[in-house]
Amino acid sequence: MTMIGEQQVDAVARPDDPAPRHSTARRVLMCSPDHFTVSYRINPWMHPAVPTDTDLALAQWGTLLDTYRRLGIEVELIDPIRGLPDMVYAANGGFVLDGVAYAAQFRYRERAAEGPAYADWFAARGLRVVRPRHVNEGEGDFLLVGDTIFAGTGFRSAPASHREVARVFDREVVPLRLVDPSYYHLDTAFAVLDSAGGPASVAYLPRAFDAASRAELERRFPDAVHVTGEDAAVLGLNCFSDGRNVVVANRATTFARDLAARGYLPHAVDLSELLRGGGGVKCCTLELRW
Ligand code: ARG
Repeated sequence: MTMIGEQQVDAVARPDDPAPRHSTARRVLMCSPDHFTVSYRINPWMHPAVPTDTDLALAQWGTLLDTYRRLGIEVELIDPIRGLPDMVYAANGGFVLDGVAYAAQFRYRERAAEGPAYADWFAARGLRVVRPRHVNEGEGDFLLVGDTIFAGTGFRSAPASHREVARVFDREVVPLRLVDPSYYHLDTAFAVLDSAGGPASVAYLPRAFDAASRAELERRFPDAVHVTGEDAAVLGLNCFSDGRNVVVANRATTFARDLAARGYLPHAVDLSELLRGGGGVKCCTLELRW
């Protein structure tokens, strides 16, 4: 495990402090919102009649990029493509683990061309690309905790894609069913705070899941953070953690306080313009594990 040295300095716990947190090195893929707008509606956040401000989206996204770089997170960039306004939500471009990229196959035709665009980028970077046979929206619905892949379904990724992912990566896959259309990707309702795993390693919004999924989450993560409806509604759970630093929506204030109480360092960013497309911090971030 690679530690980001500088950030270990003040990780000396006093007896009453929460457990010290450790950053691990991360590399992520992002896509600039040059062509961002809301011209169709494939989730309840999107209102095509309301104008968007692409310059504002670019400025806010730029702040996210700068925040990652300042934290020592390595960022790679894929060229945005005109006519693909949702391409900024890089998390949906695939799921990358062990040097293998399981490519995306989007649910809606508006985003279909993003699948091959991201797959070509993975291939050009030397990753082994597995072309999917089933609808799946990449890391929007597949999140790794420890050695287990948590897989969302209900709105976007098909259950058959969960089985495909289990075969491709030879890992345990835990299906979770989303039931609220506002939380249509797993990464809008579930956040990985500590990718090493453990009873407190995640945060989620219980009511975004069906009863069986809630029971599974309770059993696996008895000490998880449960966020408020208010924090979930600004996509607070759509955050990115390196194990110590958590980059999170600036309006998710209660969640940020809970994170700090547990020893994490929250870094607030304002992605209000990208929220109009139904995405936040994590949606703009695809983790590259290789
Ligand atoms: N407008 C995009 C869609 O509905 C937003 C995607 C957000 N991405 C995510 N990983 N949750 O597909």
